[in-house]
Amino acid sequence: GTRGPAVGRGGVAPRVAHTWLCPLRNLLDMDTFSKSDPGGWQGRFGRTEVIDNTLNPDFVRKFVLDYYFEEKQNLRFDVYNVDSKSWPHGAVLGAQDFLGQAFVALGEVIGSQRGRLERALTGVPGKRCGTILLLAEELSNCRDIVTMQLCANKLDKKDFFGKSDPFLVFYRSNEDGTFTICHKTEVVKNTLNPVWQPFTIPVRALCNGDYDRTVKIDVYDWDRDGSHDFIGEFATSYRELSRAQSQFTVYEVLNPRKKCKKKKYVNSGTVTLLSFSVESEFTFVDYIRGGTQLNFTVAIDFTASNGMPSQPTSLHYASPYQLSAYALALKAVGEIIQDYDSDKLFPAYGFGAKLPPDGKISHQFPLNNNADNPSCAGIEGVLESYLQSLRTVQLYGPTNFAPIINQVAGAAAQVTDGSQYHVLLIITDGVISDMLQTKEAIVTASALPMSIIIVGVGPAEFEAMEELDGDEVRVSSRGRYAERDIVQFVPFRDYVDDSGNQVLSMARLAKDVLAEIPEQLLSYMKTRDIKPRRPPPAPAR
Ligand SMILES: *[C@@H]1O[C@H](CO)[C@@H](O)[C@H](O)[C@H]1NC(C)=O
Repeated sequence: GTRGPAVGRGGVAPRVAHTWLCPLRNLLDMDTFSKSDPGGWQGRFGRTEVIDNTLNPDFVRKFVLDYYFEEKQNLRFDVYNVDSKSWPHGAVLGAQDFLGQAFVALGEVIGSQRGRLERALTGVPGKRCGTILLLAEELSNCRDIVTMQLCANKLDKKDFFGKSDPFLVFYRSNEDGTFTICHKTEVVKNTLNPVWQPFTIPVRALCNGDYDRTVKIDVYDWDRDGSHDFIGEFATSYRELSRAQSQFTVYEVLNPRKKCKKKKYVNSGTVTLLSFSVESEFTFVDYIRGGTQLNFTVAIDFTASNGMPSQPTSLHYASPYQLSAYALALKAVGEIIQDYDSDKLFPAYGFGAKLPPDGKISHQFPLNNNADNPSCAGIEGVLESYLQSLRTVQLYGPTNFAPIINQVAGAAAQVTDGSQYHVLLIITDGVISDMLQTKEAIVTASALPMSIIIVGVGPAEFEAMEELDGDEVRVSSRGRYAERDIVQFVPFRDYVDDSGNQVLSMARLAKDVLAEIPEQLLSYMKTRDIKPRRPPPAPAR
């Protein structure tokens, strides 16, 4: 796990644009119009077009938004009826024009079946306002990566002593007709028949995703002083290059100046495309839209070092005005992940407590006291069971992580086809007692579809946790190294807002602990060669 400001916007988090379509159904009987508004405090985002005289408008205008898995991106949609006389010139929309509104988080739309989410419109007292249908899709069709290899034959000899030192320069053409360098090969020394190493380039860089756009390639003879000699050039396109998947393609290298001067000029050699292959880099959203579910499990530390829950000094202490640090961490992470878990049933466990009636110590007891089905309904359900457990069990010790990690690993091992990915949230006050077993459990879990988030609460030193995080050194056990980095550790105190704003603290915490989840999921899929399943086609409306 990586921690700190390096992660987040512009870091490992996917920065993906999304579009929206909002067909409305069964509106109140007035003319209609809609605008969207991402969380009132950020201001208005955009307005759709007005569609005349219908209760079932399909808006065409799309809105492009950046998407961050690790943030709760709240959106608000207000629907208005517009009087054609006042629209569109700075119309102020009054309460009499209001047809209803819907609140939704972007993650809910992404995580919904096929990226379509239907919501009831509300907000007009005593009236049914109809529904709004929200659709999200990823914009970028440019996630392909090309690998190609080229060689040349009988290039012109440019060097006085010796032959030539050829290299290639690739240019992408821009919409305004200019060219931008997008790749240079290495120099092959002293030959007229060079073979360059295969290289990889994103399709985006090669042709901006436009398969027919000109790709220009210059052939140069390298000179030590930088005054490289032009041998010749040729032009092609992505589409033409991609044919080389089935045949060799040979390009004539031409030098226009030589061609003008010499009557008998044929060419300055040839370049042959030896191989060309395309790979898609799938995104987190591809997997989610393909049906991958995040299975969220919670584990809470019930060791005595937390302090008696009835005492205000306890980390488990909750007042009517303030959630405990445990509850805050749980809500912060859970409320973002739950959008990607369709049944919203979350197994929740405690560890390090003595349980009634016989006072046996347990390191994985179900918070809902139901060993057959430890799942709680929603984050609220987990919180309820957590508070219930606090009243019934005795905080004790030691602090063992391995049993709960192994428990979730066991569930993760059941389904390894990429349709389920487990996220285990462990909230603890620190000093871990079973370091060796925990490392062993993490190494095993690193081969499974799961990630572990550890949130440290309270003032303890968390050196052991930093070690598990594996940022500096990959976690190992008995000579075996973790296959992937799957642990993210953060101390909650780093995220607590000074002014006591709990919502802010939670948002900051979630942002850092969740930022790596998409990459960790992708790394699992990649190492197992699992492709996202195509979402089933949307049914006709
Ligand atoms: C994971 O989540 C999915 C969807 O919410 C659910 O159907 C499945 O049973 C869960 N898997 C486990 C092992 O809990």
